[in-house]
Amino acid sequence: MHKGSVLVVDDERSQREILRVILEEEDYEVILANGGKEALKAVREFAPDIILTDLKMPDMDGLGLLDSLPKEPFLPPLIIMTAHGSISSAVEAMKKGAFNYLTKPLDKDELLIVLSRAFERLNLMKENYLLQQEVHGKFNLDNIIGSSDKMREVFSLIEKVSSSSVTVLLCGESGTGKELVAKAIHYNSPRKNKPLMAINCAAIPENLIESELFGYEIGAFTGATTRKLGIFETSNGGTLFLDEIGDLSLPMQSRLLRVLQEKEIRRVGGRENIKVDVRLIAATNKILEKEIQRGSFRDDLYYRLTVVTINIPPLRERKADIPRLAQFFLEKYNMEFGKRVKNINSEAMRALLDYDWPGNVRELESAIERAVLLGEGDTITMADIAGVIKKPLQRIASTNFEIPPSGIDFEELEKNLLVQAMDRAGGVIAKAAKLLGMSYKTFWYRWEKFGLDSELSRKEETAP
Ligand SMILES: Nc1ncnc2c1ncn2[C@@H]1O[C@H](COP(=O)(O)OP(=O)(O)OP(=O)(O)O)[C@@H](O)[C@H]1O
Ligand SMILES: [Mg+2]
Repeated sequence: MHKGSVLVVDDERSQREILRVILEEEDYEVILANGGKEALKAVREFAPDIILTDLKMPDMDGLGLLDSLPKEPFLPPLIIMTAHGSISSAVEAMKKGAFNYLTKPLDKDELLIVLSRAFERLNLMKENYLLQQEVHGKFNLDNIIGSSDKMREVFSLIEKVSSSSVTVLLCGESGTGKELVAKAIHYNSPRKNKPLMAINCAAIPENLIESELFGYEIGAFTGATTRKLGIFETSNGGTLFLDEIGDLSLPMQSRLLRVLQEKEIRRVGGRENIKVDVRLIAATNKILEKEIQRGSFRDDLYYRLTVVTINIPPLRERKADIPRLAQFFLEKYNMEFGKRVKNINSEAMRALLDYDWPGNVRELESAIERAVLLGEGDTITMADIAGVIKKPLQRIASTNFEIPPSGIDFEELEKNLLVQAMDRAGGVIAKAAKLLGMSYKTFWYRWEKFGLDSELSRKEETAP
């Protein structure tokens, strides 16, 4: 078993041969090239793991080789061999991305140590690359389910905004998929290999939010014994997801607005401004226009944020997506729990489609998760989901009252029910209220509102 492959590049034949012997003895696979140009050919042909190259060579030197190497998916670790006199060039090579350098004459032990470190680095880079591929796949648009017209619109907007760095505001009720969309935008953008950081403005106490966003300097306040970078700095080059932005206090809103305008931040207790390049995606489940009217959201910040607004519709407005979403979650939780639930029977599906999902996709996801986990059999039935969506089903069951074609006088109907209940309860308000599922107070309020006491006594008077 080879430990991996090493491309040895040197214009001196004896040097190449010595290295070949040493490395083959250590179980490395060795490829030889007599200069930069031949090395490039070998890289294309054999894709060696590590490159060990002389610095000074006639046709293309080590630095030239470094510049010409393919950078995708990543630059292979390259070790420069150099004579004592030209260490400055070796340092330059390191700046350009070379992994390390060795001085000639080579010390065998040192060579082997540096090589094994280069392999460690390579493994890290491979892992990192695979992870990125995986993450990218995860937030591939295919993993956002939706073929309803409203979701198609969302997808087309995601695609349009992904290629640039415009600020995006995501609006939608809780559980509609705002965070999912934010991830999709980031991982489909040119910033995808840079960090995506998220902060939930509603979850952080007012007195901490400034330092969370902008960081602080040593001594900025008691307890600030080290410098801390804020999320604007840690997401530099990448994307910052500001969740629940409607909950940001007015003073923080003005600080944020300044950052968006100036593209620089200042740490708490700091004296200098620091340039940041951050793409902002904000989300809210509040109607910001209303907050502006109430005076709790700045309109100038609103205009900054709404360069592009993506409205993610509540699930009840795109019920056509329910079957595919349910199937998607079924497969997800089958995998997670090692179950083999195949489908959802039609009665259960009917119930899923009838329900209004106030908690949106998140609520549907947990309903399916529960059904997969607890269900026996290979089909999800009414019994598996009834627990989750019981309330509206009960309501439907007990309100089999049909409105006649001529319509009804709702007020008369209500009065009638109140009087009937009072009758049946023998005039005991608490009992009458219970019959209609109302609190004592509500019953009494409505009873009074319709003036039923006097109406009743009038009836009694006119009664024979
Ligand atoms: N269209 C969709 N396809 C697949 N999964 C979805 C979809 N929409 C939402 N989800 C899933 O539903 C759950 C809730 O979504 P997400 O956290 O993005 O909602 P949110 O709008 O950010 O909610 P909140 O406002 O409560 O933070 C997540 O597990 C997400 O993966
Ligand atoms: Mg969220």
